[in-house]
Amino acid sequence: MFERMKLGIQDRTKGLDETIGLELLKPTKIYARAILNLVKNFNIKGLIHITGGGFLDNVPRILPERCRAVIQRGSWPVLPVFKVLQAGGDIEEMEMFRVFNMGIGLMIIVTERECPEIMERLVALGEEAYLIGAVDKRDPAKRLYASCEPMKRIVKLGVLVSGSGSNLQSIINHIEKGLLDAEIRMIISNNPRLCPGEGKKTRHSLHRPGAPGFVTREDFDRKMIEVFNISGVELVIMAGFMRILSPLFLNAFPMKIMNIHPAVLPSFPGMHAQKQAFDYGVKFSGCTVHFADEGVDTGPIIIQAIVPVYDQDTDEILAQRILKEEHRIYPKAIQLYAEGKLYVVGRKVLVKDHKQVDPHPLHNPPSSVFRCTKRKSRDDDPCSC
Ligand code: GRF
Repeated sequence: MFERMKLGIQDRTKGLDETIGLELLKPTKIYARAILNLVKNFNIKGLIHITGGGFLDNVPRILPERCRAVIQRGSWPVLPVFKVLQAGGDIEEMEMFRVFNMGIGLMIIVTERECPEIMERLVALGEEAYLIGAVDKRDPAKRLYASCEPMKRIVKLGVLVSGSGSNLQSIINHIEKGLLDAEIRMIISNNPRLCPGEGKKTRHSLHRPGAPGFVTREDFDRKMIEVFNISGVELVIMAGFMRILSPLFLNAFPMKIMNIHPAVLPSFPGMHAQKQAFDYGVKFSGCTVHFADEGVDTGPIIIQAIVPVYDQDTDEILAQRILKEEHRIYPKAIQLYAEGKLYVVGRKVLVKDHKQVDPHPLHNPPSSVFRCTKRKSRDDDPCSC
């Protein structure tokens, strides 16, 4: 491989501190002292060197038949030499994990309860230790004993609500079902009467900064920035928040504030969007998840969903139909963010790895008021009156 890269053992390459030769000749680390200490003091379930054969061949050797190991790629810093090898040999990441140890010399299986203490002990003994995965039940029908999966990034949310909180509840449900890699760090409601989230089956707490206590919008927003920062919020979710955010707040979370609007933007921005669309006589309406900017419902669009408007609808029926779609697309947009798949380029939000959706155009929804099945001839289109 180094020949292919036109590098000799005396050469240096970007990313490595030493020459290629010295880097490859670094001696094996001996873990005996640390292991003896752990074995004496803790309930160690398994120990294994990760040698040639990488994670996938080595790890199953110490697992009972009914178990599998899930290794999280990205949970430790891969040694630079492996990055050089991977790039030089144009090798797929999974293949690297199949063959090399990627910097993990020894794996120790411990109980979840003892894990924090063991980590502390290893650090005290001068070792570099990482929590790199978990042992799980194995599906006996599958031959999968070990897998290396990309590490899940859990995005920390701060949610802003004013209304009934059904979008908030849908986000909570998606998190609890494992469909959304997010964690709600803080919920703020500016509505002193309504308490979304309360009384519902949730372990997420609700905070009300007490809107009447703040003289200006900036005061209120400053408080929100403070509490969000303290709770480590990365992404702000406006879920029916009936307050305009000040530039102060927007600048504190640039392109990190999402909003949901119950219409297909840029049509019908602002209040009572469902009624606006219904009264206008549209045949389709829907909802939009977008990043917030200084305008009212004007920020770059992430996802939209469309629903039909039927003749016999009322604006309330339409609002309910739209709300159902809101509950579907908001968690989806947040998940795309969590997976790092959203790129904002000017007004456009590009979605990485976006799958092609059904390209069929939409026509009028069927009319129940006028039914006309007349066809002038066999080749005519059905009458659209
Ligand atoms: C939703 O229709 C949302 O689109 C709008 O406010 C409403 C909030 O509803 N911005 P809920 O409080 O989530 O039930």
